Amino acid sequence: MPAHPPVIAPSVLACDFGRLHEEVRRAEAAGGDWLHLDVMDGHFVDNISFGPAFVDAIARVATVPLDVHLMIERPDRYLERFVKAARNLTIHVEAECDVAATLAAIRAAGCTAGISLRPATPFSAVEPFLDQIDLLLVMTVVPGFGGQPFLLETMPKVQAAADARVARGFGYRIEVDGGITLKTAPIAAQHGADTFVAGTSVFAAPDMEAAIREMRAVI
Ligand code: DX5
Ligand code: ZN
Repeated sequence: MPAHPPVIAPSVLACDFGRLHEEVRRAEAAGGDWLHLDVMDGHFVDNISFGPAFVDAIARVATVPLDVHLMIERPDRYLERFVKAARNLTIHVEAECDVAATLAAIRAAGCTAGISLRPATPFSAVEPFLDQIDLLLVMTVVPGFGGQPFLLETMPKVQAAADARVARGFGYRIEVDGGITLKTAPIAAQHGADTFVAGTSVFAAPDMEAAIREMRAVI
């Protein structure tokens, strides 16, 4: 039994930025439960995506929760600019800040708090924070770009997150992000994932509603 009802979160990084509002509506009409927003600073990852003004523009039209994934070196410095628009705010355990204090600040601002780890980072790195989070995001690609292939070798970390949740009685969601498709989503689900970020596989699908419906059927 999954601890949480499954969530599918289309990743805005894969949409047409020139038609942002229509794309948000399209993802919602297609059945996306949340919208996933990847903020990149060009330091923490080798790419720059978008910042608070873009997130606010989405918040003005979106009706589903915004799941904001901060791939930035100093999330502690920029939290305040995202907490109004975000429902969930995820930071990386590898960020250059006091992780526990930043997670506490996210919750104090009224958001749920997520922690994420890169494929190369061991599960032990997030273990000290498991009692301070609402969501654990296991990156299934090296963060920075959409459209990369799913890394199967990250699955033991999803399993470890699921095992720790049961063993220690935690309630966090387990989210996977990167290369999530009809083929890989069920693999992640079998290891314990309940929250699925999907960019290319849903936004580039000929029929987004069918793509999300089919994904829901296999997770
Ligand atoms: C990667 C981002 C992902 C990305 C996923 O750094 O965190 O959210 O948008 O895109 P796809 O589904 O295309 O791999
Ligand atoms: Zn992401």
